[in-house]
Amino acid sequence: MVRQKATNITWHEGAITKEDRERLLNQKGVVVWFTGLSGSGKSTIAHAVEERLFERGHLSFVLDGDNIRHGLNKDLGFSPEDREENIRRIGEVAKLFAQAGLITMTAFISPYRADRQKARELLPPGEFIEVFVKVPLEVAEQRDPKGLYKKARAGEIKEFTGISAPYEEPLQPELVLDTSLLSVEECCQLVINYLEEKGIIPRD
Ligand code: ADX
Repeated sequence: MVRQKATNITWHEGAITKEDRERLLNQKGVVVWFTGLSGSGKSTIAHAVEERLFERGHLSFVLDGDNIRHGLNKDLGFSPEDREENIRRIGEVAKLFAQAGLITMTAFISPYRADRQKARELLPPGEFIEVFVKVPLEVAEQRDPKGLYKKARAGEIKEFTGISAPYEEPLQPELVLDTSLLSVEECCQLVINYLEEKGIIPRD
């Protein structure tokens, strides 16, 4: 829980609104929140969606766990408290990006339901789209793109999600993508379809 330290600060509202920026960009500013185990395919799908959107003239941006932990959140580790703070900051950053009018995609394990719920509550209904990138642990472990599961099994990494730290599956995500059954392309198409159905981007 982070308490506000600063006093004597007021919120400044500019003349240009979110709606103005959305009109300029011909899209709605939203947060597409990918959650799932390490190696589930969150970043891969998010970047594939970004490419598809770019080709169609839409502006999006991917906030990616491994990258953000090199900069903004380099002071955080993987304890429950640090993960909570990681997700809290990302939730706030994602909200700012959405206000800027961007289709903002986040690719973090975000293993705790309560933390994801707090990120959701930062946005008005409909502007937070939770995408559960579902994959059996065995499949993620077999893929092991970074060799981390192997290290976690050997006890070289502590508190590793799925092995020695929990992953709480979403109960009511807006979308579920099972990457053990669907290709990246199919997952990408399902996200694009959702964005079209909800009027976030116009139909092609
Ligand atoms: S989160 O749990 O706080 O949301 P985040 O998505 O930022 O995690 O970072 C996860 C990435 O950090 C993984 O994809 C993996 O590459 C790396 N990592 C390093 N140590 C751990 C760990 N103990 N648990 C999970 N991921 C880890």
